[in-house]
Amino acid sequence: MPDLPVPIVRCELPTPDAIVIDHPMAGRFVLVDIRVDDADLDRLRERLAVETELHAVPPPLCSPTAAMLRDSIAAGMTARTRTRRPLVLVGAAPEPVARPAPTSPEVEESFLPDADLLLDRAHSARVYDVLLGGKTNYWADRIAADEIVQIAPTTPLAARAQRGFMHRVVTELARSGFDQFLDIGAGIPSEPNLHQVAQSVIPTARVVYVDNDPIVLAHAAALMTSDPRGAVGYVDADARKPADILAAPQVRELLDLDRPVAISAVGLLHFLDDEDAHRLVTTLLDAVPAGSALAFSQVTPDFGEHGAMATAMAQFTAAGMPMFPRSAADVHRLFLDGLEPAEPGLVGMLRWRPAVEVPLAAHLDTADLAALTDVDVSMYAALARKPAH
Ligand SMILES: C[S@@+](CC[C@H](N)C(=O)[O-])C[C@H]1O[C@@H](n2cnc3c(N)ncnc32)[C@H](O)[C@@H]1O
Repeated sequence: MPDLPVPIVRCELPTPDAIVIDHPMAGRFVLVDIRVDDADLDRLRERLAVETELHAVPPPLCSPTAAMLRDSIAAGMTARTRTRRPLVLVGAAPEPVARPAPTSPEVEESFLPDADLLLDRAHSARVYDVLLGGKTNYWADRIAADEIVQIAPTTPLAARAQRGFMHRVVTELARSGFDQFLDIGAGIPSEPNLHQVAQSVIPTARVVYVDNDPIVLAHAAALMTSDPRGAVGYVDADARKPADILAAPQVRELLDLDRPVAISAVGLLHFLDDEDAHRLVTTLLDAVPAGSALAFSQVTPDFGEHGAMATAMAQFTAAGMPMFPRSAADVHRLFLDGLEPAEPGLVGMLRWRPAVEVPLAAHLDTADLAALTDVDVSMYAALARKPAH
């Protein structure tokens, strides 16, 4: 353990399956059933020591680790470990804080009190938020993201690359005249959001966001405000039940399904199994007219099956977020059959029209994305149109 100015963390290993941590602010924790090896334990000691050294001066607890410990207590103290076995944190529960601090009154009123937020489990939307550097995430999400990043250090950059693809493809769609968007798997707001990009080109554009995570919906409803000339709606629906999406009042009220609609499923399809993903795409495309479009991304092993990204996918799955990487042949069969792919077709995400400029995203620092390779990102991207016949 590093020699700290104030020795404020002490770890002991009473049995091979448990660790006791005496944390000066968060109290005593017993981590059980985690099967750590010496290297894991050293890492944990090091991280706790560094964090507490950095934030030893007084509460409120604000370092990621301290916040993780505090959230752990609040959320009932269960988590998962890299060993795919449940991690149970046992200890005093000093603060009866059962809900995250809402970011706005609207969030508090509309969603949080009744929603089952499942804060003790990692969730794809919140892990993605961690990877994007957002703040709408909790300890289980941060643990999962941390483990993924340790195995695949480029994952946060890949997440930003995916966001960049969404910006470019929506810009291109709006520039080609699309003024109606149905975004499935909307994600936690991260500016610029889809409607902002679309409305920067066509201010009257209408966008309906769909997600099934209560935190996404709470934050989306509070933060994603439309240009007054256009409209934005939010649907709480499961992508595995596309009929529910089509039946949602917001879809019926905001979108004219007799005119072309741009369907976006960026960062979503790899969270659905083949049957669900195929049903989603075909059901939605069946409901919209010829000339409509589908934009999507998809994690793939094609760029390096044994690379770090593939391992990271396994880690997502182990953390309770099953992922379904797909080959180009799978993507063509499941999602592109009968559609007309637009240039440049199904390509590594970085190579999807990289020159498109997105004025609203110009402030984002993309310098570190320039060195990324297809294997770092391991995602395909495509835009395709529904043909007339
Ligand atoms: C990686 S995020 C993508 C966010 C955004 N589309 C983007 O490109 O930045 C995936 C989103 O899909 C949502 N999601 C996953 N499974 C879903 C399902 N079965 N139904 C609806 N949304 C789902 C998650 O809640 C999350 O917000």
